[in-house]
Amino acid sequence: MGVEIAVTGLTKTFGSQTIWRDVTLTIPAGEISVMLGPSGTGKSVFLKTLVGLLKPDAGSIVVGGQDVPRLREHDLYEIRKLFGVLFQDGALFGSMNLFDNVAFPLREHTKKAESDVRRIVMEKMDLVGLTGAERKLPGEISGGMRKRAGLARALVLDPEILLIDEPDSGLDPVRTSYINQLFIDLNAQIDATFLIVTHDINTARTVPDNIGLLYHRHLAMFGPREMLLSSEEPVVRQFLNAQTVGPIGMSEEKDADELAAESGQELPPLPPIPLQLSPSNGLRRRAQREPGEWCRTHAVTPPPGSFASADHAIPYAAGLAPAGALASRSGEVG
Ligand SMILES: Nc1ncnc2c1ncn2[C@@H]1O[C@H](COP(=O)(O)OP(=O)(O)O)[C@@H](O)[C@H]1O
Ligand SMILES: [Mg+2]
Repeated sequence: MGVEIAVTGLTKTFGSQTIWRDVTLTIPAGEISVMLGPSGTGKSVFLKTLVGLLKPDAGSIVVGGQDVPRLREHDLYEIRKLFGVLFQDGALFGSMNLFDNVAFPLREHTKKAESDVRRIVMEKMDLVGLTGAERKLPGEISGGMRKRAGLARALVLDPEILLIDEPDSGLDPVRTSYINQLFIDLNAQIDATFLIVTHDINTARTVPDNIGLLYHRHLAMFGPREMLLSSEEPVVRQFLNAQTVGPIGMSEEKDADELAAESGQELPPLPPIPLQLSPSNGLRRRAQREPGEWCRTHAVTPPPGSFASADHAIPYAAGLAPAGALASRSGEVG
């Protein structure tokens, strides 16, 4: 289960504005990847381009043997069934209760009997910890619960690929860590390919198998989490470690490497690499690796203190509830 997305030479412009150019990466099947980048770097545009809502100026996006930008309307409609998408605002219909919101894609795209619709909706609501909230309207629940409802709706057609835009925007740190744990648990359960777009560094440091960084109109780097968290590349190390010394924020116009070279500033040491979140539901994820495995395999010495189980590495990982508790307490944790 899970399908890879192979992106080659992707370029997107709006008029004279280049959003990003020559983006090349392969998002591995069944793994969790995070695309990180400052606001306005074109992360949402990237997701919309992947599902064919926006057309790139150049490049290919191969999913299941088909090149998305070159598909005709009918084939695009078919390939979209592989994707579940959670847009930034959740995009729920305000006048429909959560049950009808989640049921919507089933009623639109399938001819399932209402009894099957009901069974599937209840199963997805349970997966995201929203059992009991079916009759609520989006306006009556917290932002965190709206994100979960959007997630249930994205899951309802059993997608091979889940695209999630800024799940942590507007959520407090506790709710962010709950939803991050939910992604890990879901990935273990449904084994789909996850791509999460975020500007939250903590999410990027602790959740994914792979990290990409969009910066300065290009893909600065994409690869395994441990590779980026041990990288000395100035932009990557500055952004992933929230360091104030470095190329980001100094100039929009200059190339990052240029700036780093001419500034000659001493960079602070890399912080320890935190442990990756692991499933709380007793399952094992297909992409799960031993902590430090990538570093060992590639003869990279991780920063001192890496992969310690202590909470210091993951500022708000403490207090994560197991899946059952999550579900039964969904009303309060949002
Ligand atoms: N449909 C559009 N038409 C023109 N410009 C757009 C459109 N969508 C996004 N943009 C521009 O593309 C840039 C990147 O936007 P976006 O992908 O939303 O950034 P991010 O999600 O990384 O914060 C912004 O400058 C935005 O104004
Ligand atoms: Mg966005």
